[in-house]
Amino acid sequence: MSQVKYVDRKNTNCNKWDGQTGMFGEEGLLPLWVADMDFQVPECVTKALSNYVSQGVFGYYKVPDTYYQAFINWEKQYHSYEVHREWIRFSPGVVSAFNWITQFMTRPDDTVIVLTPVYYPFLHAIQNNHRRLITSDLINTSGVYTIDFEDFEQKIIENHVSLFIFCSPHNPVGRVWTQDELKTLLDICRKHHVFVISDEIHQDLTFAGNTHIPSFSAGDYDDMMITVTAPSKTFNLAGCQNSVIVIPDEELRKKWDEYVTGIRILGGNAFGYIAAEAAYSGGHEWFEEVKEIVYENYLLVKNTFAKELPDVVVSPLEGTYLSWIDMKAYVKPEDIKDFMQKKCRLALDYGDWFGGERFSSFVRMNLATSQENVKKAVEAMIAGCIH
Ligand SMILES: Cc1ncc(COP(=O)(O)O)c(C=O)c1O
Repeated sequence: MSQVKYVDRKNTNCNKWDGQTGMFGEEGLLPLWVADMDFQVPECVTKALSNYVSQGVFGYYKVPDTYYQAFINWEKQYHSYEVHREWIRFSPGVVSAFNWITQFMTRPDDTVIVLTPVYYPFLHAIQNNHRRLITSDLINTSGVYTIDFEDFEQKIIENHVSLFIFCSPHNPVGRVWTQDELKTLLDICRKHHVFVISDEIHQDLTFAGNTHIPSFSAGDYDDMMITVTAPSKTFNLAGCQNSVIVIPDEELRKKWDEYVTGIRILGGNAFGYIAAEAAYSGGHEWFEEVKEIVYENYLLVKNTFAKELPDVVVSPLEGTYLSWIDMKAYVKPEDIKDFMQKKCRLALDYGDWFGGERFSSFVRMNLATSQENVKKAVEAMIAGCIH
């Protein structure tokens, strides 16, 4: 029996369905934007939370060893990565974490590099913290993205870059970086003394034989990197605000600990810990089923466009549940927002959010929803192009 249940989330105060005005200026669009799922979490998570709620006392929470062990076991089982208990730190969100690490690893006006197009809060973190943003565009070959190592290194040298915020797997282009790519990239960083924040929030969502390699496992990088991940994408727990920071190096841990002592974010809420522990301990089957649903939705998008609008470029989905789609053969980049909203009635992430107008012909579609919603979205785009 299926463990994954689609839910109608309308009128539940969820951002994706009920909070479109901020980004789109209106409500009522079919939303395939915000990166959360329209699926109920694994039953083991609701049970663990219900048990906690039913005892009716919500005082200060002592994080049990079983929480850490659940994460350690998950990393070992799915990523062959041995995390030590003392390396683990807490953050309510991955975005908060990379903002904070940017603050204590760099100084105002220092230069930070990212590979574009990229998850836009990377860009905001750099700009909001008054660091200088340098971008190195990925190379796009018919929708398949690779790193321009020469450009990356050149820009690091020319701009005295001190920090690289890295997305692995990469949102929005769906790449799962290979061992060779990771090593080449991180060796360049080592050579030029560039510190790395490795955002691995999408680590578990990989498809078609692609395997995520934790950046720490790609080589000897402990003293130049901090990794941030979370159960939030994997198990649809973003509202529970529980993320994991992995810091193998003792000196770096000291820096982190000193920094968070200053801002007094020493731990999260009970619900987040309970949900994360339950998911990592018992969510395996649910997770495998979600992956199948996501990949089927991707194939639906890819195959339907291939048949009806063959010049739409859908990037191969190696990882994440986000599909990166280039509409330039059918829609002028300057018309894409009107096209998606007015003609198709869709809320999708617009390409220019990910690094500028050169990505305006793209949209990012969230595949973690029902097949019916994905079908409706694709059909609306096809109809919009044809009529
Ligand atoms: C690469 C990446 N990092 C971080 C986040 C969000 O992290 P959080 O909600 O824990 O702040 C997302 C959500 O889409 C993401 O794609």
